[in-house]
Amino acid sequence: MSNWQELEHKYFMHTFDRVPVTLVRGEGARVWDEDGRQYLDFVGGWAVNSLGHCHPVVAEAVAEQAHTLIQTSNQFYTIPQVRLAELLIQNSCLDKVFLCNSGAEANEGAVKLARRYGKLHLNGAYEVITATGSFHGRTLAMVAASGQSKFQQPYLPLPVGFINVGYNSIEAIKAATTSQTCAVMLEPVQGEGGVNLPDDNYLTAVRAWCDQMGILLILDEIQTGLGRMGTLFAYEQYGIEPDIMTLAKGLASGIPIGAILAKDRASVFTPGEHGSTFGGNPLACAAGYATLRFIIDNDIAGNAKRVGQHLTTGLKGLGQKFQFITDIRGCGLLLAMEFSSDIAQSVMMACLDGGLLVNRLKPNALRFMPPLIIGNQEVDEALGILDRALSSIGN
Ligand SMILES: Cc1ncc(COP(=O)(O)O)c(C=O)c1O
Repeated sequence: MSNWQELEHKYFMHTFDRVPVTLVRGEGARVWDEDGRQYLDFVGGWAVNSLGHCHPVVAEAVAEQAHTLIQTSNQFYTIPQVRLAELLIQNSCLDKVFLCNSGAEANEGAVKLARRYGKLHLNGAYEVITATGSFHGRTLAMVAASGQSKFQQPYLPLPVGFINVGYNSIEAIKAATTSQTCAVMLEPVQGEGGVNLPDDNYLTAVRAWCDQMGILLILDEIQTGLGRMGTLFAYEQYGIEPDIMTLAKGLASGIPIGAILAKDRASVFTPGEHGSTFGGNPLACAAGYATLRFIIDNDIAGNAKRVGQHLTTGLKGLGQKFQFITDIRGCGLLLAMEFSSDIAQSVMMACLDGGLLVNRLKPNALRFMPPLIIGNQEVDEALGILDRALSSIGN
């Protein structure tokens, strides 16, 4: 164990079971550890490094903005946040934006917005229906929203107003809807919960139900948005539009940022009802603008789709070769490999030995979220390492 890792153990609260590697540098889809060893990065900062590590357009935007204006507070107008807001609105189905600093914060704000809508238009309705297996963040309210008891149990009692119902069941949503319901909040594809795809027509049925009941549909596109699924936003693939959408992760390719986007009719905050000290700061917004501009101008979503198909084909090939692989699923460059037993940790460590970083999604599943700028060659390299890692585990 390196000295840095010992010091981490000494000073940090033990919330992360880290892989024993200390990363010191990154470029594109590759990172280097403190001993100079190189790795192909298919973790991508947990689906954050959309343009890879230290992409020149992001690094230059951050450097230039850092020499110009870093933070002012939202007491004043600043240009980078308006440029980013305009780009987000011009390229989505939403009309207004609020900028914050993380995914959980964006979702908290989205729920507050839905509650305001409920107060103003739905006789004070405040409940939000969410799905089992979902993940919406780590604040107390988002732990209540996330339909996974392992995140909830340590913190009971939880804030009220969240109803977790079975994923992929429109009937469950219908049964849970009452006069107190103001919104349904879903990830288009559940990321952290297992890379779980929606059944055909599930999201269209949810959209129709929300319309029928006059309640809001919040789509958490924090993991699926910004090109990862092969379109700029996942909702485009399901033929629906949300009333509220949240973004974070890949929006600034590594610089912390979050965003709540809403249709005009759902943009009901008035001055003082929501806010943030750092939200929309020029530094993060310059990074966000540079990232989003690059994603749009270079059809990075199209690249994610094409390379994602190549990766899927390769993973399915491994699925044929190794009997203990039970499923390959996902979309674009958000993919999972499931095993018949709890070998994900061993496979992840064997990949690490071979020079590939992957995410242990569950005891029996890995997740792949590489930068969206990778090419087929890097995918082939990763598949080769994964193949050798799987072979070392046996069949
Ligand atoms: C779908 C989704 N929502 C919300 C979050 C929380 O984002 P953050 O960790 O930036 O608060 C995550 C993080 O993994 C996520 O995947």
